[in-house]
Amino acid sequence: MSGETSSTAGIPNTGDMPRHVAIIMDGNGRWARRRRLPRIAGHRRGAEAVRATVRACGERGIEYLTLFAFSSENWRRPAEEVALLMKLFKSALENEVEKLHANGVRLKVVGDIQRFGPKIGELIAGGEALTAHNRQLTLTIAANYGGRWDILQAVNRMLADGACAPVDEAALAPYLAMSYAPEPDLFIRTGGEQRISNFLLWQLAYAELYFTETLWPDFDGAALDQAIASYRKRERRFGRTSEQLEQSQRPEVA
Ligand code: IPE
Ligand code: IPE
Ligand code: MG
Repeated sequence: MSGETSSTAGIPNTGDMPRHVAIIMDGNGRWARRRRLPRIAGHRRGAEAVRATVRACGERGIEYLTLFAFSSENWRRPAEEVALLMKLFKSALENEVEKLHANGVRLKVVGDIQRFGPKIGELIAGGEALTAHNRQLTLTIAANYGGRWDILQAVNRMLADGACAPVDEAALAPYLAMSYAPEPDLFIRTGGEQRISNFLLWQLAYAELYFTETLWPDFDGAALDQAIASYRKRERRFGRTSEQLEQSQRPEVA
């Protein structure tokens, strides 16, 4: 993996804003159940929390926001919920892309999108093309994404290109779905569960992990600020010792 993107090579200063925030947006169903509403009502409110979070990241100068919207395992849900989620995804693509573009957001979608069918596929391609040159914020939606799927598709494409053993990280990196982004600095999971659920497995190797009980529909700029405050208290060592980090921060050594 190149020194540019590998979180294991450099030492980002946690005094700065995280460059890349990756979020598992969990808890929509529980949000709805607490209100005796159907689960889809929670997903609709979740879409509003996405809008608020994209805005908040733009305002804070975060460069990359990656949101887990639908996992490769979420097909196991009742067919009705899956169909409603697809409808919501389609209408978000139809209605939000222009606004993202107006706000300087570059849209990317990662995952095995074939399975969503041609209509959603066209909307994704159109949205990515329209916003490709925007630089304010790169918003990545992980849809029908799985960390294991990502590693396997990368290996398979690398082999198809004629790669021979032994391969190293730098050889694999360009084939991973998020090769255009630095690795996440801050991982957030809402909804209280403390697991990765097959999100970015390779890329989260050295991310700082933050878990909150807040349910995704209640997440907003203030909740994001709490996560960032926690991140700023961390010391990212990447295998080194505290003493080494202190030394490298002295101006005469740096
Ligand atoms: C996350 O909320 C949204 C998706 C996985 C699509 P959930 O639907 O998983 O909500 P809970 O975990 O049941 O509360
Ligand atoms: C993870 O949430 C996937 C998304 C948020 C898209 P899940 O609700 O599907 O995760 P598990 O099943 O509780 O691990
Ligand atoms: Mg869940």
